[in-house]
Amino acid sequence: MEVAKSLQQIPSSYIREILAAACDKNVISLAGGLPDEKTFPIDLMKPTLESLCEMPEVFQYGSTAGYGPLLDYLKGYLLLPDSHSVMVTTGSQQGLDLIARAYVNPGDTVVMEAPSYLGAMQVFGLVQANIATVPQTEFGPDLDKLETCFSEQSPKMFYAVPDFHNPTGVCWSLATRKKVAELCIKYDVALIEDAPYRELRFSGEAVQLVSDFCPQHSIVLRSFSKIGSPGLRVAAVSGKTPYIEPLIKIKQGADLHSSVPMQALLLGLLKHNDFGQHIEAIRTLYKSRYEKLFTELKSQLPDTCIVKPVDGGMFVWVELPECDTFALAKSLLANGVAVVPSPVFYPDPESAGAACG
Ligand SMILES: Cc1ncc(COP(=O)(O)O)c(C=O)c1O
Repeated sequence: MEVAKSLQQIPSSYIREILAAACDKNVISLAGGLPDEKTFPIDLMKPTLESLCEMPEVFQYGSTAGYGPLLDYLKGYLLLPDSHSVMVTTGSQQGLDLIARAYVNPGDTVVMEAPSYLGAMQVFGLVQANIATVPQTEFGPDLDKLETCFSEQSPKMFYAVPDFHNPTGVCWSLATRKKVAELCIKYDVALIEDAPYRELRFSGEAVQLVSDFCPQHSIVLRSFSKIGSPGLRVAAVSGKTPYIEPLIKIKQGADLHSSVPMQALLLGLLKHNDFGQHIEAIRTLYKSRYEKLFTELKSQLPDTCIVKPVDGGMFVWVELPECDTFALAKSLLANGVAVVPSPVFYPDPESAGAACG
């Protein structure tokens, strides 16, 4: 049977290869955003895991939007106004997929920063979006180029990872956030704000979500994979109610609902008195690992390599003099270290330049 045309144009996912390399215990993986297993808050989940045995109702079919008590909790946790709704998805990756399928027709323009999160390029590629990219600076997207793109291409949405971007680690400045929100309102572009690394800030002050400045023009994806556990596959998608309703419709056809026991487990975790302390502990751990990596890269690489400092998250981006980054990644893997060559983060790898992530 011939696969659908939409799939024929998608190159085989590099994510799968990265995950395979990262799972090899003999490899030091700098390749994917995998949280350290030792940090999973299993002790904090234990009381809920035990009480699930007394909750047969969570093992029944559930509601597509999500487990009621979790949705109620999330409305407060995410400080949602009355005009907004939240739904639960099977990871924020499913949230992205639902957004793409609910809103993007083949040929519609979706804007992203370049480089971009691989999983988002894959999702928008599958719905045959026209992916337009805007270069990223140390403060976020190049604002002049973003405005030109908005005004000339009338995109439907701008997909962005403003907090500790995957793969560059860039965190947008407050001024950039305000300006992007202003542009989204001015040109009527929906902002899709993907924030899985937001809580992993280990230096500097937290900045508001971009969507706080354009709440009627945005959908926010909040993953619990990096601060809880990715295996739970539970994330929250929020936005004004008319933006969320079509997503619930699509999700119904996709999987009826996300696992209710896992949603109940996440709720127990979020409500646990020590959850805040757990986040502090992982921030401290990732900070010390980042400092070690950054210091070693700075001292061991020649001056022609530029290592960009970050204030949080899981990624460090290294710019190299022009070279074959695929050959470099292969040779590093042969030496037990997995990294990702930069061209895979560009919808058009030809435009990737000499950077290497
Ligand atoms: C930017 C970004 N968005 C979404 C995801 C997917 O997260 P989830 O595990 O919630 O599906 C990731 C995972 O690494 C990511 O880096």
